[in-house]
Amino acid sequence: MSILVTGGTGYIGSHTVLKLLERGKDVVVLDNFSNSGPDALRRLEDIAGRPITFYKADILDANALSKIFGTHNVEAVVHFAGLKAVGESVGKPLEYYRNNVAGTLTLLEACRAFGVKNVVFSSSATVYGSANPTPYREDMPTGGCTNPYGRTKHIIEQMLQDLHHSDNSYNVTILRYFNPIGAHPSGKLGELPGGTPNNLMPYITQVAAGKLPKLNIFGADYDTPDGTCLRDYIHVEDLAHGHVLALENLGGCNVYNLGTGRGTSVSEIVRSFEEATGVSIPHVITDRRPGDIAVSFADTRKAQRELGFTAECGIHQMCRDSWRWQSFLSK
Ligand code: NAD
Ligand code: UFG
Repeated sequence: MSILVTGGTGYIGSHTVLKLLERGKDVVVLDNFSNSGPDALRRLEDIAGRPITFYKADILDANALSKIFGTHNVEAVVHFAGLKAVGESVGKPLEYYRNNVAGTLTLLEACRAFGVKNVVFSSSATVYGSANPTPYREDMPTGGCTNPYGRTKHIIEQMLQDLHHSDNSYNVTILRYFNPIGAHPSGKLGELPGGTPNNLMPYITQVAAGKLPKLNIFGADYDTPDGTCLRDYIHVEDLAHGHVLALENLGGCNVYNLGTGRGTSVSEIVRSFEEATGVSIPHVITDRRPGDIAVSFADTRKAQRELGFTAECGIHQMCRDSWRWQSFLSK
């Protein structure tokens, strides 16, 4: 029996593939390389120390999916494939709805055709919108997303819940990630942002590498202890482990936050990065970034109680591993 990982050469997918292989699982990876590539696959195989069963395929391609499901005895799908750039989604909403929503629909139709009834899905804390108090709890109202990317996640969550309600032999686990950062301890796998990064940690590592002159801290006048925004940063290795636990505990229709439960400010991240790596990060305070909320962090109790999930890595390790990856890329 195999586990099909869509988007498995991407940032979070590749770390999860390694954890599944470590557990002795038979893994089949599918990716269209729209935001990764053969290099990522090669490095993944290098770390795994063995070839990986891989298909360059699109989740929108029903024929390709039929061939994969027809060839492998798939017991579960871990579904990472998707476009994820918040800003880009505002300018390209139809591309986001097609790729993420229609892609997931095509994938789920293939699952139904081949009797695959176990699905783990990559959702995001963005579905909590801006009206809920922190920490975010899984039973809080969702929606009210401020961009098409967030709406695709919200729609897919509902599609999956409807599927389970139509036939409760489908086991669906929705994982709401908080802010994944860090990289594989080998330094050979990590996030590959295209162009100038939008997210904080890849921006910081590119400043550290001298590729960008300075970090702009978007606002220091928020109602937080040091005025900069608080986020729940989680190491990608912990996140990957969360998927293994989710697969081991599939049953019914469940939603879990994957975070640390701690908010860390932008200024604290900068300071921790400097302490952990010895590299200084020139920075200036600029205006707030439109759409940012002041505080986001997870209530982690449900994932701990039901999955046995606890994030182990601290901020210093996240910074060190992100820097090791950037240093590998800069070679
Ligand atoms: P990523 O871009 O590194 O990985 C996604 C992979 O999916 C890429 O390798 C890409 O080539 C592939 N892909 C995209 N569309 C595809 C398609 N139609 N068919 C086949 N492959 C396709 O992103 P990531 O950070 O690893 O994120 C994985 C998932 O987690 C995404 O669904 C993302 O929305 C979600 N997520 C990410 C974050 C984050 O901050 N990284 C936060 C919350 C949720
Ligand atoms: N920030 C800066 N300067 C930068 C980049 C970011 O100050 O150059 C700040 C932001 O203002 C924010 C914090 O760093 O306060 C984190 O920003 P990120 O862009 O790294 O992350 P977000 O919390 O904005 O967004 C992330 C994911 C989204 C997801 C969202 C909600 O990127 O996909 O979390 O879960 F939707």
